[in-house]
Amino acid sequence: MAFYFEEPSRTFSEYLLVPGYSSSQCMPANVNLKTPVVKFKKGEESSIYMNIPMTSAIMQSVSGEKMAIALATEGGISFIYGSQSVENEAAMIARVKAYKAGFVPSDSNVTPDATMQDILDLKEKTGHSTVAVTSDGTANGKFVGIVTSRDYRVSRMDPSTKVKEFMTPLEKIIYAPEGTSLKEANNIIWDHKLNTLPIVAADGRLLYFVFRKDYSSHKENPLELLDAQKRYIVGAGINTRDYAERVPALVEAGADVLCIDSSEGFSEWQKLTIEWIREHYGDSVKVGAGNVVDREGFRFLAEAGADFIKIGIGGGSICITREQKGIGRGQATAVIEVARARDEYFEETGVYIPICSDGGIVYDHHITLALAMGADFVMLGRYFSRFDESPTNKVNINGSYMKEYWGEGSSRARNWQRYDMGGDKKLSFEEGVDSYVPYAGPLRDNVRLTLSKVRSTMCNCGALNIPEFQEKAKLTLVSSTSIVEGGAHDVMLKDNGMSPVK
Ligand code: IMP
Repeated sequence: MAFYFEEPSRTFSEYLLVPGYSSSQCMPANVNLKTPVVKFKKGEESSIYMNIPMTSAIMQSVSGEKMAIALATEGGISFIYGSQSVENEAAMIARVKAYKAGFVPSDSNVTPDATMQDILDLKEKTGHSTVAVTSDGTANGKFVGIVTSRDYRVSRMDPSTKVKEFMTPLEKIIYAPEGTSLKEANNIIWDHKLNTLPIVAADGRLLYFVFRKDYSSHKENPLELLDAQKRYIVGAGINTRDYAERVPALVEAGADVLCIDSSEGFSEWQKLTIEWIREHYGDSVKVGAGNVVDREGFRFLAEAGADFIKIGIGGGSICITREQKGIGRGQATAVIEVARARDEYFEETGVYIPICSDGGIVYDHHITLALAMGADFVMLGRYFSRFDESPTNKVNINGSYMKEYWGEGSSRARNWQRYDMGGDKKLSFEEGVDSYVPYAGPLRDNVRLTLSKVRSTMCNCGALNIPEFQEKAKLTLVSSTSIVEGGAHDVMLKDNGMSPVK
């Protein structure tokens, strides 16, 4: 006879937190949201932490390089989508690792034999007025000079005048060597009243420009997540099919942590994938696995050697898996059960495996609930897809700006590897939809606001960090009538034509 779970499975919206005692020390500014990403032994530290408990979903419509840079700047990790060629994914990772806040590769470059007309055309195209002159006209060619609008006068000069005749040549330019820190670069800029400082390699190649305006923004990101070489930390999605080719390319490109992206993690395919990674890289390559929704699934992946485990089937905003296949579990129940299994495993083995609640976050306070229920961090798709940094189009629909957001199981993404159970290499039916979400502006403002709510609730529960929160949290189920009580009720809203703030 089939097994029946005793209780119905529940969603985040069916729970509330009951406040605990908060001392005068419980101020949002004192809350530390640092959280482990990969497993560690009792008494030791995780080798990868995040400064905020948020990751962006492994999806074409969410996690490209811009998202990765913006989220790492705030202290979280993006997992670059794996449903693209190995070369493209590795190139995205490499670009995130090469990106240095404040150090900008030159996007306007000419050779000394180019003309003033070429400069004007380039300015029109990029909108930038600083043009690098390099021997081969590339961004990293041998640096020979600079052209800015101060070097030429359109009304007085023939458009065919060669750049080498009016550029500011290298010997008159103040530049700095490779390895100069942003702080040092900024000091040079101030001391010499410059707008731009070129950074030049020992062999004379141009590397970057540092612009006067960029330094201050760097100082405003105290939580940014950097590796030992001060590069942004970034994750990458892999699948259970082409790992022998994909994993080496991603590792070579500098990915800090991998995650198997699959709709169903309780499968031999995941075990084989992790085994292959251990065989070739030992523990030096970190890999998360999932998704699972119960104790058994957790145990399986823990024993298979996963570095973190992702929870969630059927709860994603674009997901139609439950309708199509009749599988899944309420996200809150899944997190609660897997968190218990994680604690039990820790008791037994002394190994703590972080768990991630993936999908179904609608309101900011769902993040708080997921953490209270035992998640070490969350993964969000819809949430991040609304921001400037998601790699999709911003479109105007009936007067409102929207961003596109589509599931990996939609025919648009065609990510058959995510749903593959060893069958033919195609999506036989869709498990996701193609949709619009309301455009919400820059990531930074949204993430900071969301986390200010998380911090505030943690203070109400008397907790100053996530482990303390998990220990102290008191959760209560709510009845459907008390859910009505929770919103604005029995008043007439002064409607501004917009939906309620989430
Ligand atoms: P959201 O934050 O509620 O939008 O959920 C995002 C999560 O949904 C992702 O991290 C995936 O785990 C999952 N997901 C992505 N694409 C699909 C799909 O097409 N069908 C079902 N689940 C999906």
